[in-house]
Amino acid sequence: MTRGLMGGLVLAIGLAQACGAALAQTGDVARGKYLVTIGICESCHTPRDAKGQRLADARFGGGNIVGGLMAPNLTPDPETGLGKYSEADFVGALRGTRPDGSKVRPPMGIFFYRGFSDHDAYSIAAYLKSLPPVNHKAERTPPKGPAPAWEPIEHVAEPDHANHLAYGKYLAQTVTHCFQCHTPRSANGLPDLARAGLGGNTYGAPGGGTVVSANITPGNPDGIVGWTDAQLKTALTTGVRPNGSQIVPVMDFDLYEQMTSGDLDDLVAFVRTLKPLKTEESAK
Ligand code: HEC
Ligand code: HEC
Repeated sequence: MTRGLMGGLVLAIGLAQACGAALAQTGDVARGKYLVTIGICESCHTPRDAKGQRLADARFGGGNIVGGLMAPNLTPDPETGLGKYSEADFVGALRGTRPDGSKVRPPMGIFFYRGFSDHDAYSIAAYLKSLPPVNHKAERTPPKGPAPAWEPIEHVAEPDHANHLAYGKYLAQTVTHCFQCHTPRSANGLPDLARAGLGGNTYGAPGGGTVVSANITPGNPDGIVGWTDAQLKTALTTGVRPNGSQIVPVMDFDLYEQMTSGDLDDLVAFVRTLKPLKTEESAK
């Protein structure tokens, strides 16, 4: 091979890499819409009426207090929303660091959302930017105590969509973030993924009272291990268990219902592979 040809090849590879990076950072609005739906972002970021129903004409307008923190307005409104953020600013915030350097705190699921691939994170940004601006004040809760130590992230590779278990893991862990609720915390307050699926966290139930997240690993003999895949999919998308009882709607079944059947298959296949854990271990 001559030197000239080598140089040309190196240049071509360089160009292909540059194009790849540019592609990742050109969001796909339709993909972003799908991800924010099954990622249940609206669960916290859309204001609700007195009955707890999400307000259809103020989608992503913010205004709910969750875990003691205001969920901000994510629409492109320049005054009350994220209108001043570029798509890169948005992606930085989704990964934990706002443009002014301040850190985004839990219960916003940064721990999991840092796993969004570049293309998916930019797609979410592109979709939210395409929404009608909602002028609705939802002022951020002032900082209190130490900020989380999220380091900025430069690049997250695309998951392998053809590998059903790997993609199912991406859907469960990053996109729908099942383990945000179904996993106990470590001493540092972050979810302990060595006990993924064990549950045992307490949540306020809509309508009053509290409810504990279930052990969804195969180690729970009274749990989903006895359900068929079809029954598990029905439970996730309708909130009804095989015995007809209603799952307390801490989960947004109407949003999970919009998952494609292929994605639901991959997610369920992955959930079946969780390490079996006994419910007693959640007390540790
Ligand atoms: C469990 C509730 C909850 C869910 C679900 C949730 N968020 Fe948040 N989000 C919050 C809260 C609360 C804050 C404010 C955190 C703070 O003040 O540090 C926040 C902050 C943010 C911010 C930072 C904005 C800023 O500049 O302050 C972005 C961006 C964001 N969320 C996007 C999303 C997206 C996209 C999703 C879905 C993939 C999502 N959120 C799901 C509760 C939630
Ligand atoms: C916002 C918190 C939250 C998220 C996110 C969440 N869950 Fe749940 N889930 C709960 C709670 C709380 C319960 C217990 C409800 C009850 O006891 O009625 C529950 C119950 C369940 C049940 C019923 C189990 C049984 O044995 O009765 C299944 C199955 C389940 N979740 C699976 C999932 C999967 C899979 C995901 C991700 C796609 C997920 N959950 C995401 C909070 C959550």
